[in-house]
Amino acid sequence: MNVDNFRLQLGKKEYVPIIIGGMGVNISTTELALAAEKLGGIGHISDALITYVCDRIFSTSFVSRKRKKYAQYSANPDKSAVLFDLEELAEAQKKYIEHTISQKTGKGAVFLNCMEKLTMNSGIETLKVRLSAAMDAGIDGLTLAAGLNLRTLDLIQDHPRFRDVNIGIIISSVRALAIFLKRAIRLNRVPDYIIVEGPLAGGHLGFGPADWHTFDLKTIFSDVLAFLKKEGLNIPVIPAGGIFTGSDAVDYLQMGAGGVQVATRFTISKEAGLPADVKQNYINAREEDIVVNMASTTGYPMRMLTSSPTLRYAIKPNCEGLGYLLENGGKCTYIDEYYQALAERKAGAPLVVKEKTCLCTGMANYDCWTCGHTTYRLKETTNLLPNGKWQLPTAEDIFYDYQFSRDHSIMRPEPEVT
Ligand SMILES: Cc1cc2nc3c(=O)[nH]c(=O)nc-3n(C[C@H](O)[C@H](O)[C@H](O)COP(=O)(O)O)c2cc1C
Repeated sequence: MNVDNFRLQLGKKEYVPIIIGGMGVNISTTELALAAEKLGGIGHISDALITYVCDRIFSTSFVSRKRKKYAQYSANPDKSAVLFDLEELAEAQKKYIEHTISQKTGKGAVFLNCMEKLTMNSGIETLKVRLSAAMDAGIDGLTLAAGLNLRTLDLIQDHPRFRDVNIGIIISSVRALAIFLKRAIRLNRVPDYIIVEGPLAGGHLGFGPADWHTFDLKTIFSDVLAFLKKEGLNIPVIPAGGIFTGSDAVDYLQMGAGGVQVATRFTISKEAGLPADVKQNYINAREEDIVVNMASTTGYPMRMLTSSPTLRYAIKPNCEGLGYLLENGGKCTYIDEYYQALAERKAGAPLVVKEKTCLCTGMANYDCWTCGHTTYRLKETTNLLPNGKWQLPTAEDIFYDYQFSRDHSIMRPEPEVT
C-alpha cells in the first residue's frame, strides 16, 4: 500500500492526496507550488509580506514607496498612522497570484495560504482585499491559517467566486473547529477541507512552548473525524505536522484522512525559497537545535532553529516599509521591547532585545529559520556529496517519494555528479 492508492476528492476534482503546506515568506515559492500542481497534487503559495515578495520577484517598488511615505515615523514608537494602501495591496496580490496561476501545467491545484494574524494595522480591511484579490486572480483555493477570524467568510460572501473557490481552514483542536463551523453553517458555506495541524509542524503553532509535546496529531485528528461524524458533516480532513514518510501518510489515509499536508521535507528542495546555505543548516540540524519559543510577535509559539539570526536581532523596527504584523492601532510587541531596551541600555553597552524579534525583517531576510520538528531527520532523505555538502533534492524527488514509497523507506534522489 502506498499513497498512490488513494485520491483526494474536492468538489468534482480528484487529486493525488499530497498537499505542500504554505511556507511564508516565499519559502513555498511559485516554483514549489507548481511542482506539486504538475504532479497532480496541491501546492500552496503564501501571501505573507506580499508587497515585499512582489518587489523581489518583479522589481516593483511597493515597499520603498511605503517607506518613503511614512519616513517621518521611523523614530516614533507610535505607528498607528502607518497603513497599507489597499489598492496597492490588491495590485501586488493579483500580480503574484496571476504570475503563479498562469504557469499551471498539470491536473493539480494551487492554493493560497493566508495567515490571518498578519493584521497589517487594519486586520479586517486588508484581509478582505487579500482574499478578494486572490479570487480575482484565479486562485484555486484559500487556506485560512493562523489567527482564524470568525468574520472571514462574511467578508467575502459577496464575491462571485465565494461558492466555487475551495475554502479550507487550519485548526489544531475540535474546539476551534466547532466555533468556526457555527458561523460557516449560518452562511451555508462550510469549508471544503479541514487541515488539522498537530504539534510537530513548522511555522506558528496552536500549542504552547511548554506543553506542545503533550499533544499528538493522531488523537486530535481522530477527535475531529468523530466530531464531524456526530455533526453529520462530510468534509475531507487533512492531517499535518510530522508526516515524514509516505507510510506515515498511508497510516492517516487508512484512518480516513482525505489527504496529508506536508512541508518540512520540501524546505530543502531546490525549488524552496530558502538560500542554499540555510538549506544546508536545516539538513545538519540536530534534534536539540530545534525549539518552540515565543519570539514571534504574533503572540503564537513558533518552532525554529536555535541558530536563527533573528534570535539575536536588535534592529530598529522596520514598520514603515514592512509593518505586516502591526495590530490594529499600530502596535507590535517588538516595538515595545525595542524601545524599552533602548531606554534601559547602559552607555556603551550593546543593545539587547531578548524576548521578541522583528519577525517582518527576519522573515523578509530569510533570517528566521522556522522549521518542523522532524527537520533533524532530513539527513535521511538525501545524499552527502564528496564536497561535504548535502545534495538538494528536487520537489519532484520528494513528492514521488511520498507518493510511491512503502514500508517507511525513503527514496533518496539520484546521486548528483559534482
Ligand atoms: C519553514 C516553514 C514555514 C511555514 N510557514 C507557514 C505559514 O506561513 N503559514 C502556515 O499556515 N503554515 C506554515 N507552516 C506549516 C506548514 O504549512 C505545514 O502545515 C506543516 O509544517 C506540516 O508539517 P511538516 O512540516 O512536519 O510536514 C510552515 C512550515 C514550515 C516548515
